[in-house]
Amino acid sequence: MSLVADAVEPMTAPKGVPVLEAKRLVKTFGKVVGLDGVSLQLHAGEVLAIIGDNGAGKSTLIKCLTGAYVPDQGELLLDGEPVHFKRPQDARDAGIETVYQNLAVSPALDVASNLFLGRERRKPGIAGTVFRALDTSGMRKEAREQVQRLGISTLQDVTVAVENLSGGQRQAVAVARAAAFGSKVVVLDEPTAALGVRESKQVLELIERLREQGVPVILISHNMPHVFQVADRIHIQRLGKRAATITPQSHSMTDAVAIMTGAADA
Ligand SMILES: Nc1ncnc2c1ncn2[C@@H]1O[C@H](COP(=O)(O)OP(=O)(O)OP(=O)(O)O)[C@@H](O)[C@H]1O
Ligand SMILES: [Mg+2]
Repeated sequence: MSLVADAVEPMTAPKGVPVLEAKRLVKTFGKVVGLDGVSLQLHAGEVLAIIGDNGAGKSTLIKCLTGAYVPDQGELLLDGEPVHFKRPQDARDAGIETVYQNLAVSPALDVASNLFLGRERRKPGIAGTVFRALDTSGMRKEAREQVQRLGISTLQDVTVAVENLSGGQRQAVAVARAAAFGSKVVVLDEPTAALGVRESKQVLELIERLREQGVPVILISHNMPHVFQVADRIHIQRLGKRAATITPQSHSMTDAVAIMTGAADA
């Protein structure tokens, strides 16, 4: 196993200004230390996986990156500029889209409405500005294009209610939503946790397509084969700290699990 120092910039980090960078983030909940000085860099066109045992601080870390939590200490930089997100909408406005661990789609709404949830388009002119009429056909057209662009082949009809979709298709809608609006960064917390083999494959393909389009992705997953399949680099979180940042080339899955559980140092 090769050594990877846990400096602010790990040896595995690509060159250039990171799209998103966290420096020494600290987040406590009363006496519980969720994050203990965690740094992370996300570069253009890469998939960065975050792995770690239950309670290691993975969700807390991405919540601090995406405005769901305000860190107690530390810095956040977007394209090298300091940012201070107070709520998820701030991060969204800055181009960071997140699919949180507990999936947020509205089952009763159709696919197109879910894609545009919170960003509904109004009709042009008085109908839209005064009477707040929704531009349903425009949103459906764009939803269709988005679904096609992302290659979600099993999702034929964007007017179908999400509650009628399979788990994988629902997840695909959530990921598609993030992909549609995440102009800078897409963050996915356990996107394949509840999915079957075929459905997981679809979500992994979506992630690869996002990377092809130049959008960097942060992927949290417990699934080592998935992580090793799509990740360019792997951030290992242990007991609220970053234990190491490795690559699928530098370390095996067994090595990664050993670092994750504390059986081995990086
Ligand atoms: N809102 C909160 N209030 C109190 N403690 C919290 C809160 N959120 C997280 N924690 C604690 O912070 C630590 C890190 O939790 P976090 O949810 O980030 O872990 P995780 O790595 O995402 O775990 P999992 O794999 O189970 O999703 C845990 O000890 C957890 O109990
Ligand atoms: Mg979590």
